[in-house]
Amino acid sequence: MQMTILQTSGWDNYELLDSGNGYRLERFGKYQIAKPDPQAIWLPRLPKSDWGEADAIFEKKDGKEGWIKKGEIPEKWEVTYKDIKFFAKLAPFKHTGIFPEQHLNWDFISEKISSRKESVAVLNLFGYTGIASLVAAAFGAKVTHVDASKSSIAWARDNQMASHLEDRPIRWILDDAVKFVAREIRRGNHYEGIIMDPPIYGHGPHGELWDFSKSFPELVKLCSELLSSKSLFFLINAYAISSSAIMLHNVLRDYLPNGNIEVGELAIKEKNNSERMLSTGIFARWTL
Ligand SMILES: C[S@@+](CC[C@H](N)C(=O)[O-])C[C@H]1O[C@@H](n2cnc3c(N)ncnc32)[C@H](O)[C@@H]1O
Repeated sequence: MQMTILQTSGWDNYELLDSGNGYRLERFGKYQIAKPDPQAIWLPRLPKSDWGEADAIFEKKDGKEGWIKKGEIPEKWEVTYKDIKFFAKLAPFKHTGIFPEQHLNWDFISEKISSRKESVAVLNLFGYTGIASLVAAAFGAKVTHVDASKSSIAWARDNQMASHLEDRPIRWILDDAVKFVAREIRRGNHYEGIIMDPPIYGHGPHGELWDFSKSFPELVKLCSELLSSKSLFFLINAYAISSSAIMLHNVLRDYLPNGNIEVGELAIKEKNNSERMLSTGIFARWTL
C-alpha cells in the first residue's frame, strides 16, 4: 500500500503564516485571519505582535463563538487560484469557504481531465462552495455538483460568476448525496470522475442523516456502480475524523478490486519554516 503526505506551501493568494496554541494564522488574498485548529497544540513561532496583525480572529468566549473583526476586512473578498476566482468570507463555524490544501486535489483533477481528449462527466459530492467543480468545468468537464446546503450552492454559483464560467455545463443540485447517487444508478447514468469530501456528520436537505462511519462504505459502494468503463478517477477527501488513510484504502478495495489506489495525508507547510506542517485531512485517489 502506497502512503503519501501531499504537502503544499500555498500559492500567491494563500499562505499559512504560523500555527500553535490551538490556532492557525493564514493569509487569504490580502487579508490575514486567525482561527482555532484543535491539532495545533505546539508553540507558535511568530511573536504575539504578528498575530496581532490579523484582520479578523475567530473566538470562542463565554459559550459564544464568532469572528472578531480587527481591520477593515469586507464581508467577502476575492481569492484566485490560477484562472479560477472565488470568494472568501468570515462564515459561521470558523469557515471561510476555502479549504486551501484542496488545491493539491484541484491540480490532480485538472491533470486527469486534460489527459482525456473527449469530454468527461464529473460528479462532485459534498461540493460546498464549488471550487473543485469550477476547476473541472474550466478544463472541459460536464460537472454535476451536489450539496445539501442552499447557502453553499448560492456561494458556489457566486464563485462561478466571479470565474466567468457561466457558460460551462455545471448542474448545481441541492440534495442528499446518498439519495442522489442511488437515483443516478436507477437512471443508468455514469461518470468518468467522482469527487467526495464528506463531513463527519451532516444532514441532507430533508434531514437525511450523514454519519461517516455508517454512511461512507455504503456511498463508496454506490459510487463504484456509477463509475463508467472509461473511468478517470475516484477522489476521496476526509477531515476531522480519527481514522487513518488506510481505512479509505480498505473501503475502496471492498468495491473496486481493480485499479491503483494512493492514500495519505494532506498537509500545509508553514511560511519560512520548511519543516513544520499542519495536517488537514486524509485522502484516497483511485485510478484505473
Ligand atoms: C466541508 S464541506 C466539503 C468541502 C468541499 N469539498 C471543498 O473542498 O470545498 C462539507 C459539505 O457537505 C455538505 N453536506 C453535509 N451533509 C450532506 C449530505 N447528507 N448530502 C449532501 N451534502 C452534505 C455540507 O453542506 C458542506 O457543504
